[in-house]
Amino acid sequence: MIKPETVQKILDAARIEEVVGDFVSLKKRGTNLLGLCPFHNEKTPSFVVSPAKGIFKCFGCGKAGSAVHFIMEHEHSSYPEALKYLAKKYNIEIEEAAKTPEDILRENLMDRLYNLNSFAQKHFSDLLFNDSRGRSVGLSYFKERGFLEDTIKSFQLGYAVDDYEELINYAIKNGYKKDIIEASGLVTVRDDGKIYDRFRGRVIFPIHNLTGRVIGFGGRIMTADKTKAKYINSPETEIYHKSNTLYGIYFAKSAIVAQDVCYLVEGYTDVISMHQAGFKNVVASSGTSLTVEQIALIKRFTQNVTIIYDGDFAGIKASLRGIDMVLEAGLNVRIVPLPPEDDPDSFVRNHSSSEVMAYLKDKACDFIRFKTELLLKDAADDPIKRAEVIKDVVGSIALIADPIYRSVFLKECASLLDIKEQTLIFETNKIISKKNYQKKDNVPLIAEQKPEEKTDVNKVVREKYQPDNHSFLERSVIEKLLLYGQIECDYDTSIEDEQPQESEPELVSTAEYILSETVYDGIEFENFAYKKIIDIYLKAKEAGSIPDIKYFINNEDADLSKTVAEIIATPYTLSDNWSEYKVYVKKESDDVANTVIRSLLALKVSYLKRIRDKIQEKMKTASDEQAIELIKKDIGLKEHEMYINKILNRIIT
Ligand code: CTP
Ligand code: MN
Repeated sequence: MIKPETVQKILDAARIEEVVGDFVSLKKRGTNLLGLCPFHNEKTPSFVVSPAKGIFKCFGCGKAGSAVHFIMEHEHSSYPEALKYLAKKYNIEIEEAAKTPEDILRENLMDRLYNLNSFAQKHFSDLLFNDSRGRSVGLSYFKERGFLEDTIKSFQLGYAVDDYEELINYAIKNGYKKDIIEASGLVTVRDDGKIYDRFRGRVIFPIHNLTGRVIGFGGRIMTADKTKAKYINSPETEIYHKSNTLYGIYFAKSAIVAQDVCYLVEGYTDVISMHQAGFKNVVASSGTSLTVEQIALIKRFTQNVTIIYDGDFAGIKASLRGIDMVLEAGLNVRIVPLPPEDDPDSFVRNHSSSEVMAYLKDKACDFIRFKTELLLKDAADDPIKRAEVIKDVVGSIALIADPIYRSVFLKECASLLDIKEQTLIFETNKIISKKNYQKKDNVPLIAEQKPEEKTDVNKVVREKYQPDNHSFLERSVIEKLLLYGQIECDYDTSIEDEQPQESEPELVSTAEYILSETVYDGIEFENFAYKKIIDIYLKAKEAGSIPDIKYFINNEDADLSKTVAEIIATPYTLSDNWSEYKVYVKKESDDVANTVIRSLLALKVSYLKRIRDKIQEKMKTASDEQAIELIKKDIGLKEHEMYINKILNRIIT
């Protein structure tokens, strides 16, 4: 834990242009700096650094954020690691929060465990290569499997002799205490308290963490004896947590970055054989289903995961659920099914590298399509099953955050499922809005849909999928909120026929004004990211403060930081589409109040228009009585709209 004061010191010291400048050659361009993006291949620079705003943004690939996020992205490090990097760069001494005696004990324990594991690994390797039992049984087993000596050495494979106390005695002789030997999981404890070696007569696969330290072991029997477990693994310990470990990640990480894809397989031997065949960007979930932590680990290195499946149909079906989590994490998932008789290990041994390469390339299928086809095959012509399939597939698509990808998948699946695309879109949107709603309020949605909501699918499509001015207007208001939130202005919007007030101008903060004109006025932001920003302002307001733009830019929530960086990084254009209001904006900061009011009014006009559209829609099916009510409502709204337009006209002329 780095102390909050130290974190602040680091954030204050880190100048974006200096931090980025260590990796990218930057040229001055106006108030900004421009360079070639380090995150994607480009020939003409579209990577912009704004020293004033403390952010970078690539207009090519979209990466954006603060100095900390630049380091996280560039060095594939975590938030605290990036802070430590910056602290070093700026000679800031990191004062870690004072450690409790328990912390010290725990750290001590962890160090001792790392030491013992490393000791045990060396011993197992030594037995494999230098003990007659190891050589004749273990080493020959590996060689028979086609593992080369170099491979065996780099994965630090080993051999545990068939003896109950071999490792224990050797460790004790070398000064290791019984408590740590027990805590390491290298032994099992009998009911009577006596301990004996966990791994006996097995070849050993050490499991490494990201930095290459041995945190646990897997041991395989060398026979096909069905009465014994094929593998025995270390139990969870202070340093080995199965759910956030991926076998092979240490050996794979740089290849994953270089190839920008991570292959995911099931077993130890799959990783090793693929690695030996030249496919180094591969990790294994070690036979269990994937966890969120493992996904996060992959995400540090790439956005692309290709899962290589053994050809067994039941196994694949069982794991589909788990893959939904990967989609939800925002990763692109592809699937490569192997022929039924193969696993990755046997497949790479029985084919040449170029054959494997071609197979991986040809057979890789995006997950959604794969799932749809697989489930459809299962459902055959059964209409009930088909309906289930549609629901299931729609559920997966709804997890994809990027609307562009989502629409591509919707189109594809509509044709696969032989169903109207609009219907799929409508169903997906339903799930998404429900999810958004629940995330915000934590209130389960009432399952019943109001009748008018299910009628006009086209309308939903029009609203959600033709990027209209509305989301643009929302963005424009959020931009003002972020840029000018703390600035106080005289927000007087009385129009000409009202009496001008003689009193002193009353100053309010822009944030306060924007909140009062939107959320407090019943205007909800539709874009979920903007809603999140608004919520932060609302919370801050309760606490009597207004967040600084830096709060967002330096936020640990990288998505939030990115959204904000994207909104405020508009170096080339004045973002607002004002042609509709026949106006050319002066430089914005010239007149904060005016620009804020204009943005708000434009949003309001659009908002009203949407409500009026909805009313028109309802009119179609309304009874006479209802129609009268609707018309009344519409007239009221129309008047409101005209009033707003009037203010707008006054301000812009
Ligand atoms: N596994 C395990 N315990 C078992 C069986 C499997 O922990 N009893 C884990 C291991 O991590 C193993 C992975 O699940 O690597 C995949 O299992 P499997 O495909 O059966 O083994 P392989 O790795 O293919 O090993 P081999 O090729 O030697 O059979
Ligand atoms: Mn295998």
